[in-house]
Amino acid sequence: MEATSTPNKLIDRFGRTISYIRLSVTDRCDLRCVYCMPEKMTFVPRTQLLTLEEMEAIGRTFVRLGVDRIRITGGEPLVRRNILQLFENLGALEGLRDLTLTTNATQLTKYAPELKAAGVTRINVSLDTLRADRFRAMTRVGDLERTLDGIEAALACGFDKIKLNAVVLKNHNHDEILDLVRYCIERGLDISFIEEMPLGQNDHHDRAVAYYSSDQILEDLQPHFDLVPSTYKTGGPTRYYQLSEHGSTRVGFISPHSHNFCDTCNRVRLTAEGRLLLCLGQEHSMDLRHVVRANPGDDAALEQAIIEAMQIKPRGHDFNLNSQEILLRHMNLTGG
Ligand code: GTP
Ligand code: 5AD
Ligand code: SF4
Repeated sequence: MEATSTPNKLIDRFGRTISYIRLSVTDRCDLRCVYCMPEKMTFVPRTQLLTLEEMEAIGRTFVRLGVDRIRITGGEPLVRRNILQLFENLGALEGLRDLTLTTNATQLTKYAPELKAAGVTRINVSLDTLRADRFRAMTRVGDLERTLDGIEAALACGFDKIKLNAVVLKNHNHDEILDLVRYCIERGLDISFIEEMPLGQNDHHDRAVAYYSSDQILEDLQPHFDLVPSTYKTGGPTRYYQLSEHGSTRVGFISPHSHNFCDTCNRVRLTAEGRLLLCLGQEHSMDLRHVVRANPGDDAALEQAIIEAMQIKPRGHDFNLNSQEILLRHMNLTGG
């Protein structure tokens, strides 16, 4: 992986440059987090998924058009068969400066060294609680020890950065904010606290009742830490604060409800079925699976389609926790 400055050809109607693509490689997962999917989830039939070769072709084309960050998401990316092959091929692309992964860590003891060798720079791990009983309740099936072991395995490999993602739900885990930050300080991890987004039907809790704002979290932390706003940016929506007394750890907030970040959006996402979604919170999309299959081996057709798709990127999402209208897509289909 070598950074070169490819002129970026992906600019939308609002003047935003798209430099980051999120590739969801599967909608399947070995956990069932209560904010992400229902207990009985119907997954996309395997025959409808893009092959890993098709994903690589799409990733490669995006990089040729000027994208320099690729994040692999899911579902749980590491449950997809032969997934290392995709990391290795993307990691070798000239012009890519950041190859990253969002994972639940259950497979990291097995994969962390190979991911590092393939060129993965940063890993984000979903972890909402440090209590085993709560972890089981929030993931419905998970085993906390396995996730914690996965994090330790990744730490041992020396990635540039590991970040925790914690979705905070009132009366489920909001009282663990301090413990999660301390866990990160002890290990030199970053953390993003996330406001839940209303994607897909939720039969588990009332999202409006479980809402716990980023500002509330900041208020909870302030008596314990000196939090200094940071200019650090990963290209994502997290607003970071530095902990002045605790070296490398940053505490961040992803606040789709309370601090909209759409005007600086730099990203698009590809579902595991090859649908290019121009916004997480809207349905505007282009079927890249069709384009790839109708033009085998013809990257020019793909380039053209991707450039055209930028013209339908909407201004932003408009999530509403109290609305009956919810997007039918669950988060595992979109990859966040
Ligand atoms: P980096 O900045 O590269 O570290 O990644 P990230 O934090 O953006 O990605 P990650 O996959 O860890 O996602 C963390 C949370 O951010 C998830 O809840 C995502 O759904 C959310 N997120 C990421 N991008 C967007 C976006 O464009 N819009 C919205 N509304 N949420 C996003
Ligand atoms: N709202 C906010 N974040 C979510 N995630 C999954 N579902 C939701 C949701 N409804 C987060 C997970 C994971 C990331 C990809 O998205 O915690 O870290
Ligand atoms: Fe799986 Fe991530 Fe969804 Fe949890 S949030 S069910 S780990 S895809």
